[in-house]
This record gives sequence, C-alpha cells and structure tokens, in this order.
Amino acid sequence: MNNIEKVKLKLIAEKFDIGKCLSVAPVAQGLINETFVVEANKGKYILQKLHKIFSVDIVENIRVVTEHLLTNKETTPIIIKTNSGENILTQYDCNWRMMTFVDGNSFDKIPDALHAKEAGILVGRFHNILANLEYDFKSEFKNWHNTAFYISRLKETADKYKNTKKYLELEKLKDDILYEYNGQHQIIFSGNNVVHGDLKINNLMFDTNSKALCLIDLDTLHQADILAELGDAVRSWCNSVEGISEVSSEFDLHTFEAMMSGYISENKNLISAEKLLSVPNAAAQIALELSARFLEDAYAESYFKLDKSNYKTLLEQNFTEAEKQFNLYKDINKKASKAEKIIKNLLNE
Ligand SMILES: Nc1ncnc2c1ncn2[C@@H]1O[C@H](COP(=O)(O)OP(=O)(O)O)[C@@H](O)[C@H]1O
Ligand SMILES: [Mg+2]
Repeated sequence: MNNIEKVKLKLIAEKFDIGKCLSVAPVAQGLINETFVVEANKGKYILQKLHKIFSVDIVENIRVVTEHLLTNKETTPIIIKTNSGENILTQYDCNWRMMTFVDGNSFDKIPDALHAKEAGILVGRFHNILANLEYDFKSEFKNWHNTAFYISRLKETADKYKNTKKYLELEKLKDDILYEYNGQHQIIFSGNNVVHGDLKINNLMFDTNSKALCLIDLDTLHQADILAELGDAVRSWCNSVEGISEVSSEFDLHTFEAMMSGYISENKNLISAEKLLSVPNAAAQIALELSARFLEDAYAESYFKLDKSNYKTLLEQNFTEAEKQFNLYKDINKKASKAEKIIKNLLNE
C-alpha cells in the first residue's frame, strides 16, 4: 500500500466515530471485501470496502443481530457508525463500513478436531440465540444455495464463451458437473431460521485455547434453511485441502464427527433429526454447487477476487477451486453412509 492510499484510508477511517486514526494496514485474507485493520485512539477496528454485490441495507441487519448477540452475552464485532450517525460511508464511489476488532485467530483450514467441536458449539449457540430475535431482515438473499440456479447459470455462461480458447480447457469439468447434478437426488432448501450465510472456516474467530469466540463476515445474515448452513460449514471445515491450492480434496470424517457432536450438543430442536441426517447430502450438493460457481467465474472472471498469495490469474484460481470442490463432492458421496451413521450415533447418545 503506497503513502497516498494510506492517507486516503486514514481520512476515510476518521469519518467514523473512532477518534484520531493512528495507522491503517491491509488484511490479506478474504475473497470478497477489501479489509483493513485500523488503530485509533479509541481502540482497534476493522474497516471494509464493501463489494459491489452487497446492498448497503445489510449493515442494518448486522447492527441488529450483533446487538442481540451482545445482549445475550456473546462475543461479537459491532458496527461503528460514522460521525454523522450513518451505518455506511460512501466515498470514492465505494461503500465503507467500520466494525470493532475481535482479538482472536481465524484459520484457512481447521487445525484439529477440538477446534471443530468448539466451532460446532458456537454455531449451535448462534442459531439458538438468534431464533429468539424478532426482526424483519432488510434486503433479500436471492438464490442462496439455490443449486439449480447456479447450475443453469454455468450452462448459460459456458455457452457465451463457446468460441474462446478457454472453453476447451474448461469443458470437461463443466460436463462432469452437469452430469453429476442430473444424476443426483436434489435437495431444495427451505426454512426460516436466522443463518450466518457463509460459514467458511476463516469466518470464525478462535482464542488461543481452541475455543470458538465468534462469527465474523456477517454480510450474508438472513433467514433460511439451517440444513444449507450446516452443509456449507461441512464442505469447508471437513475439506482436507481447504485454504491451500491443492485439488486432492478428501472429506475428513474425524472433523465431521467433532463438529457435529458440538453442534448437536447445543441444538435445541431448531433442526429435526431427519434434517440432521441429510447434512452429508446437503454438503455434497453444496460442494457441487460451489464447483459450478467457481467454474462459471473461470469463464466470466468477474466475481471472485484474486488471491495473489496462491494464484497468478483468476482463471487459474477459479478453475483450481472448481476442481477442488468437485473432488470433495465425490468424496463426500463416497463416505455419505458412514457420515450418516456418525449422526445417528450422536443423536442416540
Ligand atoms: N471484526 C474483526 N476482528 C478481527 N479481524 C477481522 C474482523 N473482521 C474481519 N477480520 C479479518 O479480516 C479478514 C477478512 O474479513 P471478512 O469480513 O471475512 O471479509 P471477506 O468477505 O472478504 O472474507 C478475516 O478473515 C479476518 O482475518
Ligand atoms: Mg471472510
């Protein structure tokens, strides 16, 4: 980051209620927003330039949910308003948001079973506490885990690139995804519980004793099916190559058992035994869906941000990530009956 950018960011930061800004530094992680750590005389904060996909209304959702979590004695980042009392600052044609900094660690890959169990406990508590929140969420989350939608978008986008060089490179994986999707029993997610919406492992913060402290990256909070939320958590937390540029994904049953035991120990009947038993199938479907989304963006190169520490081009990143999710899908399917048995045993304990 050069000096001009630093000065600009400091000026932006000081438009929020943080006092004098002492330093701003970029945070490398994250595929969606641009994130900076801000030190100011009132404390430490996280400043984010919001991705254009998000409506500014989501910040009001975050404010209400985090206040409810605080009231229930949970650790959570909270929204810091601008000096004129707004949730968002619009500057340089972008929307900026400030939150309090949570002192903890986030991981690109879950370190061990203990972290997985603690993470399951945290998410179970999160769902329970937010089941008591009375609030009409602002802005819709259209097509959240609407697998059919992402599959048809992959088909449409691929067709648009028919005469390009990369079409041939991507064609086999595209055909494999479509073939698998058509042969699968498809779950249509439906439900009305408050969900985080993006439980990738690096959206959880832990303390140094492996305890899960809180969820961050709250842009996708809304009301939906907990089954899809858990399926998405499984595909991230239980992928042996999550967070690295390797495609040899394996579904880690040991991590799965740990996370589900944590979650089930907290589950207060928000989700039925029947739905819990379909978590492995939901995880497989979501891995296939994500594979389709990455592959679609390998054609279009317009959605995901390039992770420069792991990849040279967005095409390479999106294609590798698509392969990784496809291999995970296959391995979850292979181990689905073992995973269901694990859940049955946990429910009978
Ligand atoms: N409130 C917070 N406290 C401490 N670190 C944070 C906080 N919010 C985000 N971060 C750090 O910034 C990274 C990216 O932020 P995140 O909101 O997850 O953005 P993205 O949508 O791009 O993934 C996180 O992985 C975490 O390391
Ligand atoms: Mg994140």
